[in-house]
Amino acid sequence: MNTFVLKGNIIYSKDKTHLKLVRQGYLVCENGISKGVYRELPEEYAHMPLTDYGDKIILPGLSDLHAHAPQYVMRANGMDMELLDWLNTYTFPQESRYQDPEYAVAGYEQYVRALKESATTRACIFGTIHSPATLLLMEMLEKAGIRGYVGKVNTDRNSPDFLREESAKKALKDTREWVAESSRRFQKVKPVLTPRFIPSCTEELLRGLAEIQKETGIPLQSHLSENYSEIAWVKELCPQAKNYADAYDRLGLLGSNGKTVMAHCVHSTEEEMELMKERGIFVAHCALSNTDLSSGAAPARTYLERGIHMGLGTDMAGGYNISVFRAMADSIQVSKLRWRLLDESKKPLSLEEAFYLGTLGGGAFFGKVGSFEKDYEFDAVVIDDSRLLPPHMLDLRERLERIIYLSDERDIAVKYIAGEKIV
Ligand code: GUN
Ligand code: FE
Repeated sequence: MNTFVLKGNIIYSKDKTHLKLVRQGYLVCENGISKGVYRELPEEYAHMPLTDYGDKIILPGLSDLHAHAPQYVMRANGMDMELLDWLNTYTFPQESRYQDPEYAVAGYEQYVRALKESATTRACIFGTIHSPATLLLMEMLEKAGIRGYVGKVNTDRNSPDFLREESAKKALKDTREWVAESSRRFQKVKPVLTPRFIPSCTEELLRGLAEIQKETGIPLQSHLSENYSEIAWVKELCPQAKNYADAYDRLGLLGSNGKTVMAHCVHSTEEEMELMKERGIFVAHCALSNTDLSSGAAPARTYLERGIHMGLGTDMAGGYNISVFRAMADSIQVSKLRWRLLDESKKPLSLEEAFYLGTLGGGAFFGKVGSFEKDYEFDAVVIDDSRLLPPHMLDLRERLERIIYLSDERDIAVKYIAGEKIV
């Protein structure tokens, strides 16, 4: 029964810089697809079942464009290092635990429960190198009704023995089998090719992944220009590449064979940005992670100005918080520090822009997602913000602002994904 009408206070992005705010409006869903927002319910929809959410706020579902599911259970631990030491000291040992299916079930259950209770409806997620654990994660997400992409990670160099694939050949064979099995078993959760990043993949492995993408057309996710030492290392490893993005591009991994999302892009150069734009890649902007790992402050304003696709990522557990509302607030706060301390010509992100990035901006990676305009997939969160209301009246924009900065899972009354009621 994915055909119904919701009534309430409806907010969504009209475009990058404007909100559409409809007090006591009607939102129509037909077979999981939005038929638009109305101030008066059109006659043709009057026969549909209607749920009146009273004074609650109805928003499009949020998209997390970058997260590591196995790192959820180490969140908020070990944030005293920068990226490369953090990976070696905390992250790789943690991810190796997912070799054990019992641990994988216990760890992923915690992540999937938290994701289900959050306002996130779509996510692009890293698993580990282990196919069985990655399939378990996909199965749990599918059951929870969450939609999006999950990747079996590829790593065949510069990683410890306990978290490295036997060879490029074996990694590619495992990846092909995992793609086939997950495509057969799951409808809501789809496979995404996932080379960890250039330092942990040989050229043979990367070329093979490009080949798989060419054949299957499935998307690809990885990391790009996150940290100074990482960037210097890529330069050493690929002396012929013009920049980090070019190191992917030469091997056909920067969007030339399919939809691609790159996390971070904190220190991308002019030349790199041009290539990103040309290839139509999505940037997953992960402001909290970039703060936690002292990576820097990404030039989000520049990406917006240049029309480079962008959404928000929690980067769980470089970022310690699963909430994309929190990622919106963090993106604004980091942009203020960047403006004051680094570049006063690039003004901070506005509330409207951060909300756009967490809904429509990131949602575009998943298709027609992140808006209530006609023909968008019907992802919605109903927020009961009564706990957050002061004794005086607030307008809808002020209420949204408070939701972004102050709400948590307690305030989420109901969530719909593609018209299916989740919680
Ligand atoms: N680069 C390569 N692996 C990782 C990871 O797990 N987290 C982050 N933040 N960056 C990475
Ligand atoms: Fe990451």
